Amino acid sequence: MSITAEVIKKDQQYSVPVAGRPDFVLARGEGVTVYDADDKAYTDWVAGIAVNALGYGDKEVMEAVGKQMNTGLIHVSGLYHTQAMVELAELLCTISFADKVYFCNSGAEANEGALKFARKLAYVNEKPNKTKMVSFTEAFHGRTMGALAITPKDKYQTPFKPMVPGAVVGEFNNIESAKQVIDADTVAVIVEPIQGEGGINVATAEFLQALRQLCDEHEAVLIFDEIQCGLGRTGELWAHSFAGVSPDIMTLAKPLAGGLPIGAILTTDEVAGAMSPGDHGSTFSGGAVVMCAAEVVVKRVLSPGFLAHVKDVGDYLLERLSEINSPHIKDVRGRGLIAGIELDVAPAGIVQAGYEQGLLLVSSGTNVIRFVPPLIVEKSHVDELIDKLTLILEGIDAGD
Ligand SMILES: Cc1ncc(COP(=O)(O)O)c(C=O)c1O
Repeated sequence: MSITAEVIKKDQQYSVPVAGRPDFVLARGEGVTVYDADDKAYTDWVAGIAVNALGYGDKEVMEAVGKQMNTGLIHVSGLYHTQAMVELAELLCTISFADKVYFCNSGAEANEGALKFARKLAYVNEKPNKTKMVSFTEAFHGRTMGALAITPKDKYQTPFKPMVPGAVVGEFNNIESAKQVIDADTVAVIVEPIQGEGGINVATAEFLQALRQLCDEHEAVLIFDEIQCGLGRTGELWAHSFAGVSPDIMTLAKPLAGGLPIGAILTTDEVAGAMSPGDHGSTFSGGAVVMCAAEVVVKRVLSPGFLAHVKDVGDYLLERLSEINSPHIKDVRGRGLIAGIELDVAPAGIVQAGYEQGLLLVSSGTNVIRFVPPLIVEKSHVDELIDKLTLILEGIDAGD
């Protein structure tokens, strides 16, 4: 039996069936390319779902991880100080609105923590009625119970009801709707400056500004979920920067540690001041190996020319996607290297055809193909993508 057949058979036998995986097995990666067990190459427009910002096999990330591993301190828990953790916290505060950082292990966990921070602030301020958590249509904030409650999609929520109480939904990019749902009982408002899972929907500057104003007016904590769109993906360091407003909390995860599991809650002294020892924590929080990898990623994103490259290739991607002459493309949208094409056909067939053509693609929302490649992708990769996508879209009409 081939390695591929054996792995797929074992996956079916032993894995909880929450993922529909294609019929190849990934074996190695280099740059923006991954290779399967038969050494077929795929140019990666998914990056482990917007994670592998520096691509595969980045030498500096691997060296930093190896160096920390060699100290023997793979894990010590949050009970003890490590240099790696405080240095990453300092770096993130230096380059953002934040005064304080809490590290965790995933995006959902970061959003869970952010909701707890907001509730604790209301608690210490003796505002017991402040419990409403506002999120927006098409949002995705994670799949744990608190994060799921603020991810207003029936498909994700229905089998797991009842949801954590207090979640209220406004319409994304609709300021009037936001005014209706945000009031004195609102403890937190959470929004993605660009919705990733929901179909690459870009928040307007006016919408983010209005949320800032409404949160100030009603003393609610404003949370920007930059788990998918943040840390350079838009060509700016933070996806909200263009709006000229800062949140009270920003959550990060996916790309932060070069592919190792991480989440981070960046916040102000005011919010952090409400938290006391024992209020929150996690065994693996702030692990030194992960922190060292993250320091490399953040410093690389900040290095001269890196963000300009993302913007340049991102602009080129949007331009070339817009040029594809296919009746099936209804919209092209995004910013930098978080882009999407809205289709009038189900994306699953396109993703499958992509595999055959040596492309990793992923859908988002109901009818969008999203492009969230490693940030080191080049214009030549965009050209390859456009050629292959054009062929795939032509194939739909030919009944292929
Ligand atoms: C915007 C956003 N928030 C939260 C999450 C949840 O992150 P994780 O899968 O690491 O729990 C995701 C994951 O796709 C996301 O895109």
